[in-house]
Amino acid sequence: MPVTYSSYLKLDQLLSLQQPLSDGPEHDETLFIVIHQVYELWFKELLHEIDYLTTLLARQDTPRALHTLKRVLTILKVVVAQIDVLETMTPLEFLSFRERLESGSGFQSFQFRELEFVLGAKHPAAVERYPAGSESRRRLERRFAEPTLWDAFLRFISVTGYAVPPELLARDVSAPVASSPALQAVLMDIYRRDPIVASLCERLVDLDEGFQEWRYRHVKMVQRTIGTKRGTGGSQGAAYLMTTLNQPFFPDLWAIRAEL
Ligand code: HEM
Repeated sequence: MPVTYSSYLKLDQLLSLQQPLSDGPEHDETLFIVIHQVYELWFKELLHEIDYLTTLLARQDTPRALHTLKRVLTILKVVVAQIDVLETMTPLEFLSFRERLESGSGFQSFQFRELEFVLGAKHPAAVERYPAGSESRRRLERRFAEPTLWDAFLRFISVTGYAVPPELLARDVSAPVASSPALQAVLMDIYRRDPIVASLCERLVDLDEGFQEWRYRHVKMVQRTIGTKRGTGGSQGAAYLMTTLNQPFFPDLWAIRAEL
């Protein structure tokens, strides 16, 4: 059989995967399913690109690392902008099918947790939520034990010739990234003397800010759609999500701004 557009993209399978659970079904459930599926595809692509970025940093390939970061940032803009589409759904439209979600929630997105892990937010509790032996648990355990993008960056600047504190290069990579005044001095030196590596730092700040922007837009969408109700995932809803804001992945890159 010759390859066609449909066969290459497996469109028959792809387009059969949107299956509303509500009676009718309710008109808005299709949007809700499509948008979540699109998110999961973008999460997959983001993980794919961030993994590539870490190998490029290990190879000291700065031009390609910057190019790949640009792609990651462009995707991030798209995933933030997608929230606009979901915000066209009113609270009553969401309520028309919400109970059919039962305890299902984006809270359970294992790819989102993988992204958090690769970016440095290593919360062991996030692994425990998945059944032992499941594919999602296996993936998260692997990511949890792996170095983060920040570790790849530290190694990159160390090989470039900067005096990264040895304890940071030997740190337990399954621990959350913590801030380090000694590293901040190194980063300030980079900002003052090395425009190429400084631009890499700035792109990492863009990535950090972009992720926080998604969290902020998501919580605002949640507030306008369900107000102060609890989430289907069992949390306090918007009140819980507010606690996840303003928690940067790369704290040292933010700390130095007050000193430069
Ligand atoms: C009407 C739309 C949405 C509502 C009302 C909503 C609501 C919520 C709520 C209340 C939570 C807190 C956990 C819980 O108890 O359920 C949550 C978490 C989450 N949602 Fe949504 N959500 C919506 C759309 C989306 C979309 C489109 C995505 C994209 C994948 C998404 C991804 C997530 C993620 C990743 C979390 C976990 C955040 C964290 O723990 O930091 N949500 N959502």
